This record gives sequence, C-alpha cells and structure tokens, in this order.
Amino acid sequence: MGAAGSRPCTLVVCRGCCCGDGRKHPGFDHDWQLARLRAAADASGGAFAVRTTDCLGPCDQANVIVVQPSAAGRRAGGRAAWVGFAMDDDCTEEILAWAAAGGPGLADPPTTLELQFIDPPRGARTRGRRQGAVRK
Ligand code: FES
Repeated sequence: MGAAGSRPCTLVVCRGCCCGDGRKHPGFDHDWQLARLRAAADASGGAFAVRTTDCLGPCDQANVIVVQPSAAGRRAGGRAAWVGFAMDDDCTEEILAWAAAGGPGLADPPTTLELQFIDPPRGARTRGRRQGAVRK
C-alpha cells in the first residue's frame, strides 16, 4: 500500500491571520494548543498527524481546526470535519481523543465537539491545497 493508502488522520491547524493570534483572541494559550497537538501526534505512533496552514477562510469562527480522515476513514465514508471556535482545553482534548480513536469514518466524534462543527467555506479544500504555504 502506498503512502496515500496509509495516510493517517490529520489535524490541519489554522494559524493564519486570526487563528492562534493572542491579540485577536486573548485569554487562550494558542502556543500551548499547538504544542499539545503536536506532542500528542508525536506520541500517537503515527495514528494521526498535525500540520499547520495559512488562513482557511472562516476567520470569524477562529480558531479553526480541520480533522481530515485517514485513508481508511475516507474509504469508510468519513469526510473532513471543520471545527470552529477551537480554543479551549476541552475542545483541544476532544479533537485529540477523536483522532486517537481513528477520526472521521472510523469513530464517532465526541458529542460536544460535534456542536462546534462548522460548514467549510464554499469550494474549500484542505487536502493538497496550499502545500507551499504549510508551516511546520
Ligand atoms: S486565520 Fe484561520 S480561518 Fe482565517
């Protein structure tokens, strides 16, 4: 199976003009959030991955994190879930729990996380998009 066939669930963390900006969204530790997500991905043994991206569009719903299905999750019918207002510790931990359980297509999202799902902007694609703008 090729790399695309084994692609893990991926958390695409927006870090554009608004998401992660402490001046626009004070009271949240955005650096902690990204470090927490990355540390959990590192500890997951490849079960899920984290990458950052420039602005995904819905800045008024920042922070935005997109939970992309793994290859297996996509084959099982899973689709990318856009999470808005993803700033507090509980939300961060719920995203991690869902990704660790398999993510879209393989596990149901936590109910409270589902309440934060937002519609992607028209024509939005996170897979294979903005590769040149991805920041590590
Ligand atoms: S900066 Fe994240 S949606 Fe615009």
